[in-house]
Amino acid sequence: MKILLCGKGGCGKSTLATLMARACASRGQNVLVVDTDESNYGLHRQLGLDLPEDLTHYFGGKKGAYKRYDETGKVFEDKWSISDIPPEYLSGAEGLHLVAVGKIAEAGEGCACGIGFTAREFLSNLELGDKDTVIIDTEAGIEHFGRGLDKCADIIFMVVDPSYESIRLSEKVSDMGRAFGKPVYLIINKADDDQSRMIRETLRDKDAVIASVPADKNIMEAGLKGEPLYKDVPEVDIIVDKVLV
Ligand SMILES: Nc1ncnc2c1ncn2[C@@H]1O[C@H](COP(=O)(O)OP(=O)(O)OP(=O)(O)O)[C@@H](O)[C@H]1O
Ligand SMILES: [Mg+2]
Repeated sequence: MKILLCGKGGCGKSTLATLMARACASRGQNVLVVDTDESNYGLHRQLGLDLPEDLTHYFGGKKGAYKRYDETGKVFEDKWSISDIPPEYLSGAEGLHLVAVGKIAEAGEGCACGIGFTAREFLSNLELGDKDTVIIDTEAGIEHFGRGLDKCADIIFMVVDPSYESIRLSEKVSDMGRAFGKPVYLIINKADDDQSRMIRETLRDKDAVIASVPADKNIMEAGLKGEPLYKDVPEVDIIVDKVLV
């Protein structure tokens, strides 16, 4: 199962990726978290793991990957299982691992397409065993749909925070997910009961809501300090149990 999390900036994608990864690992899954966010550095800290070397470096960096794609139409041709990933591109331990596809490093270095192609092809070529779960954390917005990353996922979760932008974006994400033939579920995040009710009333695709995760002081403080996030969130357990059945 490849699970992709998306949503507008700051809605809680990386937080929910972390919570879902831990919940899956505690159910005996072999979890690989794939960080496809080219800008942010928070996910590995939330997971309490080192940031591994960019996977794009395996292809000579962003420019190397882009050149390969330009010349051959492909970046990543190998079929890898999780155990085939070279150790320098992986952090974590038994049951919970992290791959980071690539980060933008310098001003004026050009577009991030090389990273995007690498992410898409790595994920589409990644072969999973029965006990493997892949959790894909995306960058804010919907460019990953344009790049076709979402085609690699079996299920898409859009995180919806209490904002007009999130509610509008959920319509686009549902439509784009449908265009790729992928199930899209909505996770309301950072909302109290009243806000959650208001969001549900306003959403076009109300039936797609799978859970509502409340704003939580411990999550907020861990996020503020960049500390590992260890927290049992019952709503996340419900999501994971539904997905893994
Ligand atoms: N349920 C929650 N309760 C309290 N704080 C939360 C909750 N979910 C997320 N946060 C906080 O909101 C901030 C943004 O969360 P997070 O980094 O997960 O969002 P994101 O969607 O991944 O952001 P980006 O678009 O920048 O990648 C963090 O400081 C995080 O701790
Ligand atoms: Mg994030």
